[in-house]
Amino acid sequence: MRFLKGMALACAVVGLLAMVGFADFSGELEIFSWWAGDEGPALEALVSLYNDNYPNVEVINATVTGGSGVNAKAVLKTRMLGGDVPDSFQVHAGQELIGTWVIADRMEDLTFLYEAYGWFNLFPSDLIELLGTEDGIWSVPVNIHRSNVNWYIPANLETWGVEAPTSWDEFLAIAPGLEAKGIVPLALAQNWTVNHLWESIAVAVLGADKYAQLWDGTLAFDSADGVAIWAMFDQILEYTNDDASSLSWQQATDMVVNGQAAFNIMGDWAAGYLTTTLELEPAVDYGWVASPGTDGVFIALSDSFGLPQGAPNRDNAIAWLALLGSQEGQDAFNPLKGSIAARTDSDLTKYNVYGQSAAADWKSDTIAGSLAHGFAANEGFMNDFATVMEIFLASRDPVQTATAAQAIALQNGIGN
Ligand code: GAL
Repeated sequence: MRFLKGMALACAVVGLLAMVGFADFSGELEIFSWWAGDEGPALEALVSLYNDNYPNVEVINATVTGGSGVNAKAVLKTRMLGGDVPDSFQVHAGQELIGTWVIADRMEDLTFLYEAYGWFNLFPSDLIELLGTEDGIWSVPVNIHRSNVNWYIPANLETWGVEAPTSWDEFLAIAPGLEAKGIVPLALAQNWTVNHLWESIAVAVLGADKYAQLWDGTLAFDSADGVAIWAMFDQILEYTNDDASSLSWQQATDMVVNGQAAFNIMGDWAAGYLTTTLELEPAVDYGWVASPGTDGVFIALSDSFGLPQGAPNRDNAIAWLALLGSQEGQDAFNPLKGSIAARTDSDLTKYNVYGQSAAADWKSDTIAGSLAHGFAANEGFMNDFATVMEIFLASRDPVQTATAAQAIALQNGIGN
């Protein structure tokens, strides 16, 4: 029955787009995201494609600046609850979408688009699972980003006589020497980037299998393994910059570029920033390796857009989502963004050497889910984890923090 309903809707969409010439779409389209300023060029490329196809639609590109959506998510919440719904908004695939707006029944089921455009065969089925529940599929993924990347400037490392470390022990061995030269071993930025670093360290300490067990509740956060993550984290934080909390992620990347710092663990939106904004050449001007101890593991996250119920310009939003999921849309967006396409038929000749290497790793590596970017755990856990992180930064006590982490896991349905 659901299939027949889906088929009818799919025919309706295809029919609609065929009958109504593209140019006949009019009015506005408001899209909402945190891709502002330096983070904007990839989104602007998509908007420009949309404008080409639908010249009579005025696109309102509403952005709220702040890496990983720290500010945008709060603004979105106010708007959604206040009835001021954008036509489409950015949300991470995984619990960030399902555990919030889907549970609250605020999204439209997009199964009809997946059927109309053959996306069931064109997006990885594991990813579709993250975007769906038994009642529907709730957003369209535009990319895959990798979180566990260590960025550096090859010429600087050569001058300093060090190599990118393959383990945290190696990092801890070279860090004092860098510090003695007045170089910050590891550049860090505002709070969310601390969580971002934590997940890379957790994978390094535990390995991908045990890391996954944290999220399915079969490995306790206060086990010896869980405590070991915080103990390693503690040692590594010794070698980060003191002004981290006042820096954006781009400013931490800048520290590496201008030789103030040796390394920065950041998602591959940094490749977008380094190439698209700073115009540096990958593998020449800047280099990368998997964050220490995580070679062969790809900590993944995916940006997606959904259709909220009550979107004022629903047809325009559906056309937006169709473009976002298309090969043309994904291959216009991702080479600028530093991510790879979520689609499996992407044209890799359009990507630089970084993008091509990420695409190869995505195929061959073990996939782990990002905590900091909505993939691994629900919003309740994420919010409480911020408090746990504060406890740790104040106390630097691995056992006490691991105990607190286990308590919030249980409170949020992990390990019950
Ligand atoms: C992530 C998002 C990326 C990038 C990054 C920095 O959460 O998935 O696309 O925008 O934040 O803001």
